[in-house]
Amino acid sequence: MRRKVIAGNWKMHFSPLETEKFLNELVPLLENKAGLDWIVFPPSVSLFKAKEKLNKSFIKFGAQNCHQEQKGAFTGEISALMLKELGCQYCLVGHSERRQYFNETSMACNLKIKALINQGITPIYCVGETLKEREEGKTEKVLKEQITSGLKDINLNDSLVVAYEPVWAIGTGVVATPQQVEEAHKLIRLCLADTVFNQKRAAEISILYGGSVKPENSQELSMLSQVDGFLVGGASMVAKSFAQIGQIPL
Ligand code: PGA
Repeated sequence: MRRKVIAGNWKMHFSPLETEKFLNELVPLLENKAGLDWIVFPPSVSLFKAKEKLNKSFIKFGAQNCHQEQKGAFTGEISALMLKELGCQYCLVGHSERRQYFNETSMACNLKIKALINQGITPIYCVGETLKEREEGKTEKVLKEQITSGLKDINLNDSLVVAYEPVWAIGTGVVATPQQVEEAHKLIRLCLADTVFNQKRAAEISILYGGSVKPENSQELSMLSQVDGFLVGGASMVAKSFAQIGQIPL
């Protein structure tokens, strides 16, 4: 059985004080929803606050990025080792904003993924094509490249979640159609089976959809056999909307 995951990527929003306020609102809303894996991704300065607030909760938290080295002269960076101490169980890797604005390649993601796995932190590896790539018929090629180089030399029993986030659907209000989502998720799972793991292990990996997910569109998408949950940006910062997205039986 694949784990069902509802993850909220807060991006560069919510200071420690705002995190406290938001979690005060969110935690009671999720009270009877322990059947899913709920994860929030605050900015790194707010992780300590998340740890404090989620201490007794089933809601997990993680970081949005990490450096591949454990320590060293890398000004401004945070290592997986440090995230572990902060109580992070997950970390996003390769979000399209990191690829786009910070020139992160799939090869760089591979090093981060290995560093996280070494610390027992589950990477949520984000992949997705741009609008131009989709229009040029390159979606399959791009997804395969991101999967094969990002997940190179990952072991069969390493903990991993994949998120399919078409770049053109992130923060745009344009959501991918159920057919586009199902096709991309199938392709990703096939690629996981052929080039990273094997069929049995690939069938166990949760693949989340991300890109303008809201309570109004999550119902239809959650019915797709290949969708194991959502990575939510904007709507994850509205407590009621986030809670509602997870209300749907996945
Ligand atoms: P969005 O963001 O839900 O605001 O489109 C998704 C993401 O960036 O993970």
